[in-house]
This record gives sequence, structure tokens and C-alpha cells, in this order.
Amino acid sequence: MQENTKQYYIITMGCQLNENDSEKIQGILKNMGYEKTDKIEDSSIIIFNTCCVRENAEERLLGKLGEVKKLKEENGTIIAIGGCMMQEKHMQDKIKQSFPFVDILFGTHTLNNLEKDIKKVLEKKEKVRDILDIDGEIIENLPIDRNDKYRASVTIMNGCNNFCSYCIVPYVRGRERSREPKNIIDEIIDLAKKGYKEITLLGQNVNSYLRVEREKNIQFEKYEGIDSFAKLLRKINEIEGIERIRFISPHPKDFTDDVITAIRDCDKICKIIHLPLQSGSTDILKIMNRKYTKEQYLNLVEKMKKNIPNVVFSTDIIVGFPGETEEDFEDTLDVVKKVHFEQVFMFIYSRRKGTPADRMENQIPEEIKHKRFNRLKELVEAQIEDNNKKYIGTIQKVFVEGKSKTNDKVFTGRTETNKVVNFEGTNDMVGKVLNMKILSEHMWYLKGKVV
Ligand code: SAH
Ligand code: SF4
Ligand code: F3S
Repeated sequence: MQENTKQYYIITMGCQLNENDSEKIQGILKNMGYEKTDKIEDSSIIIFNTCCVRENAEERLLGKLGEVKKLKEENGTIIAIGGCMMQEKHMQDKIKQSFPFVDILFGTHTLNNLEKDIKKVLEKKEKVRDILDIDGEIIENLPIDRNDKYRASVTIMNGCNNFCSYCIVPYVRGRERSREPKNIIDEIIDLAKKGYKEITLLGQNVNSYLRVEREKNIQFEKYEGIDSFAKLLRKINEIEGIERIRFISPHPKDFTDDVITAIRDCDKICKIIHLPLQSGSTDILKIMNRKYTKEQYLNLVEKMKKNIPNVVFSTDIIVGFPGETEEDFEDTLDVVKKVHFEQVFMFIYSRRKGTPADRMENQIPEEIKHKRFNRLKELVEAQIEDNNKKYIGTIQKVFVEGKSKTNDKVFTGRTETNKVVNFEGTNDMVGKVLNMKILSEHMWYLKGKVV
């Protein structure tokens, strides 16, 4: 490593909220005069932004920490670990015990202290533990250094109040609270001015935006009349320059009619809705604490299909939740067959310390979980192939994202329904929405031609 270089290397391990936090960490480091590097050995600071939603995240972090130990010893590189996993007491202890060389542990509620924490390490050579176990609050005005020039994520709420029985998120992200409408609108207007075209609104339960505030009479400014998710969507739809609006994740139990009509009326909202199913069995859904039945889920899908022309769906599914019988699993397959999702994120149930499902006695053997996972995967892949065929010959609006990573002549973009489209193009097309004819399908992408 060269003397006096200030470079940082960041590893982001979690969901889009976690990625959005990483962009804020990048903003803080940039303000401090650090530059981003892709070469871990050149960095003077290494940041891990962790996730703990499933067990494999832990294995990944611990493996990586073994690797960076050598860099620490040779270069004195500062090692900082933040994010959701650091909110777990047993993980804090594990890091302290097994990796005592780590300089900074920070959590999900203390990003605003990061600059101060790094300075403490630099100036006083102290180890810093900056983790708050609080319900959490909204921190505005953090600097941000975004990874993309045209697509931006905007966090609209923090935390989660749902306590699905398998999930660790409510314990590590604190209670639900929404950002003030004005701050969100101002941020998106600013993004539009900077040339951003696609906005993804983020939150663990986006369609309950401002619900807690309304129910508990927590003061907020009803800027431009916005007091609900539906009204927020309508306002964002009016912002000039923005061409596409997405949001993740809504919760089926909170999908009110005003949100459905807002999606129908707003031309910029992509007509692919991520609607996490988790399980198709009413019995399992109850034990999961999801607060909807199989029938309610299917009715909701039907209602949306009736009201929103050409709407399609993506979803999250967990297989092997404690007590899941063959019959329960068949119910999940049944919902998948009925809805015909465009995309399914499939997860094998992973026990999380401190959650009710971890304490259940009827855990499913690994072998059965894997068998079910593979059966689901087969069904999903067959459906995706089937769905893909429907695109061939159609004209799609494709948002051009950039060059393909593997071939210089090939450019890549996405349809409104989030399908990757590869095509021959030129640099000036990047950042634009172009009409393309779909020529062929290849499982994970479509081939297209500008028309
Ligand atoms: N708030 C979002 C999801 C957050 S976590 C929502 O409700 O949709 C993202 C996904 O991880 C979840 O939808 C779920 O499918 C999966 N997940 C969460 N906890 C899990 C666990 N313990 N084991 C396996 N998958 C899990
Ligand atoms: Fe987890 Fe459920 Fe909250 Fe999503 S809604 S973050 S799955 S507890
Ligand atoms: Fe996201 Fe993982 Fe945290 S899914 S909210 S980074 S536990």
C-alpha cells in the first residue's frame, strides 16, 4: 500500500436497504477524502455492511474476516463492520472474541457517527463499539455517493413492526417509522434534476408508509396532502424527469384499494408488483404470523389483475418452515401455479436466534428442505421459460442500463417487468428508454433489437 493514499473497500452483504445504507457510508467516506477502490489490498479502510436474515451471511462474513486479518497485520488497514448482523449481541461477542483486530463495530442506528468513529481510531488508536439497541429514529441529511447514474433507491421508512415468526429483521432494524413526505419528495426532485430516471422506494413494509404515525398520532407534516403510501406514489408520479417507479416490499395484508388504484392510474409505476407470499398454506401462514390466508392472497392477486391492465407479480417464498407438511408445501406449489410469477426469490428456511420459529420443535430435516426447494425451483423455472416465450415478437420499453459485462458490443437493459434484455447498441443509448422488439428468450435474459 502506498503512503498517504486514502482508499476504502466496501463489501455489501444484504438487501437493497443495506445497499442504500452502503451508499450513505460511501458518501461519508467521500466527504472524508477517501476514494473507493476495487482492490482490497490497496485500501486503508475496509468496511463490511452485513446482513443476518439467513445463516449463510454469517459464514460469509467469518470467512472474509479470516482473509483480511493478513491485510491488517501487513498494512494496518482499518477494519470496520456494520449493518444488521452487528445488532445481534451474540455476533458482537463472537467478533470481539475471535477477531479482536477489528477496529470498529457499528450498527443500523449509528451511521451518522461513522466519521467520528473512524477519527477516533485514526487519532486515538482506540477500538470503537458504536451500537445502539434502540427502537430507532430517522436520520436525515446523511451524505450519499450512489452506485448508479440513472437508477436510485430511496428509503421511505425504517424498521418493521410485523414480527413474522421466522424473521430477524424487526430485532435488528427496530420499530417501523416513516420519513417525512417532504424529505422524500425533495430527494426525488433532486435526483430527477441530476438525471436519474428510475426510482425504487424501499422499506420492509412500504405500503404501511405513515401508518404508525397516523395510528399513534405521531406528528408529521402533511406535505402536499401526502398522508399515505398511495398519495406518496401519486405525487412521485408527477415529478418531471422520473420515468419509472418501483417499490419493495409491500405486505399483502396492507394492500389497500387506494394503492391498487394509484398503481393503475400512475403511468410511471412499473406494472410488476413484488408481493411476498412466503408460504401458500393457510396453516403455515398463520404460524408465520403473516396475517393473510392462501385465499386472501389469491383474491388480492385476482383483484389486482382485474384492476391493473397487464399487471404481473414477483414474490419471495420460504420452504421448510417448522411443521411444514407435504400438503402445506403442495399449497405453495398450487399458488405458484395459479399466479404464474415473473420472478420468484426462493429461500430455504434458516433458523434465526431469538425468533419464535427457532424455538419450535418440529424443525424440518435439511434433506427434505432441499428436496422441496428443488421441486419448487423446477416448477418456477418451467414457468419462467413459459413466461419468457410470451415476450418473443412483442415490442417492449427497455431502460438501457449500460454495456454488458462480458461483451463490448452488447448492451443491456430492463423491461418494465424487470426482464433483462441484451441487444446491440451504442453508448448514447445508455440511460434512455427505447422500444425494442424481442427476438428470442434465454432463461435469464431476452435478446432484443432496437426498433
Ligand atoms: N420485509 C420484506 C422482506 C425482508 S427479508 C417482506 O416482508 O417481504 C427478505 C426475504 O427473506 C423474506 O421475504 C423471506 O422470504 C426471506 N427470509 C426472511 N427470514 C428468513 C429465514 N429465517 N429463513 C429463510 N428466509 C427468510
Ligand atoms: Fe421480516 Fe416479516 Fe418484517 Fe418482512 S414483514 S421484514 S419478513 S418481519
Ligand atoms: Fe436487509 Fe439483511 Fe438487514 S435482508 S434489513 S440487510 S438482515
